Amino acid sequence: MKPIITLASVVLALASVTVQADPIVIKFSHVVTEDTPKGNGAVLFKRLVEERLPGQVVVEVYPNSTLLRDADELEALRKNEVQLLAPSLANFQKYTKQLQIFDLPFLFDDQDSVDRFQKRAKGKQLLRSMESSGIVGLAFWHNGLKQLSATRPLRRPSDAAGLTFRIQQSSVIEAQFAQIGASSRMLPFSEVFGALQNGTVKGAENPWSNIYSKKLHTLQPYITESNHGVLDYMLVSNSSFWYSLPHSIRVVLEGIVDEVTYSVNQQAEALNKAERERVRQAGTSEIITLTAEEREAWRNAMRPVWKQFEAEIGPDIVKAAETVNR
Ligand code: LMR
Repeated sequence: MKPIITLASVVLALASVTVQADPIVIKFSHVVTEDTPKGNGAVLFKRLVEERLPGQVVVEVYPNSTLLRDADELEALRKNEVQLLAPSLANFQKYTKQLQIFDLPFLFDDQDSVDRFQKRAKGKQLLRSMESSGIVGLAFWHNGLKQLSATRPLRRPSDAAGLTFRIQQSSVIEAQFAQIGASSRMLPFSEVFGALQNGTVKGAENPWSNIYSKKLHTLQPYITESNHGVLDYMLVSNSSFWYSLPHSIRVVLEGIVDEVTYSVNQQAEALNKAERERVRQAGTSEIITLTAEEREAWRNAMRPVWKQFEAEIGPDIVKAAETVNR
C-alpha cells in the first residue's frame, strides 16, 4: 500500500528537521582584548568547538566588555543569558568567600606555585564552590602576577600612602591597600583607562598583559614590578545549562576545555614577559625593580590581611596554599 503523504505530515517532518538542526549556542563574554591569555583562550575554544562539533554547537565570543561589564557578568550567566565566562578570581566573592584565597597579597611566590595549588585537591575543590548558586567551574586559566603602577614611584609601602588605586570587586584587595595607607575604588575593567586619564584614581594593579593591551602604561609613569598578587581566571558555566547538554556533546566540550586550558596556561607567562618588554620599549614608564629586602618590606606591610580573611576563606584552604611555595 502506498503511504498517504498529507501536507500536515510534510510540515511536521520539516519542523522536526528544523528543531534538530538548530545548533546549541554558547555565548562567551569577557572584558579583555583578544591578544591576552583569556582573549586567545576564548578564540581557540570557539575554533576547536566549531571544528569538532560542526552544525551542533556555535560559539559567539564577545571580547573587551562589548556585551557585559565584569560587574554584570555573573548575574547574566545565572540567568543563562551567556553560557561561558572567565572572570578573574577576584570577581566571585558574592558567591563564595573561598576564592578570596587568590587575592591574598604575597601568598604565592610565583605563577608555578599558583599552578601547583590549583592542581591539588584543595584547589580543584574550589571549582565546585559555587554550585549552590548555579555556577559550575570548568577550569582555572592563568593570566599572571600583578604589578603596581602609579603616578609616582612606589619603592616602599609608605610611598603609596594617600594615593587612590583602582581595584576589582574584592574586599581583600580593598584591605590590602588600606593596609599601606592608600584608598581604593572598585571600578569595572572597561573604566580603568578613563579613570586613570581623568585622575579619579592615581594607581592600579594589573598583570603586564592587561597593562599593555589596555595601554595603561601610557598613563602610569611608574610601574613597580611587585608581583604581589595573582590575576587568574575561572572558566565558568551555568550549571543547569552545562549539565543539560547532551552527554555526547558535553564530553567533547570537556575535552576541548582541557586542551584550551593547557594552551592558555602554557602561554600566559611568555605572553606577559613579551608585554613587559613592549611596555619597557614604549619608554612611557619607569619600571622599578625591588631588591629582596624592599620586596620583603611590602610583604610584611600587607601580610596582616591574611589573618583578617583567614576565617572566612577557611583555614584549611589558607594552609594548603601556604605549602605550595618552594
Ligand atoms: C580586572 O578587572 O582588572 C581584571 O579582572 C580584568 C581581566 O579580566 O583580566
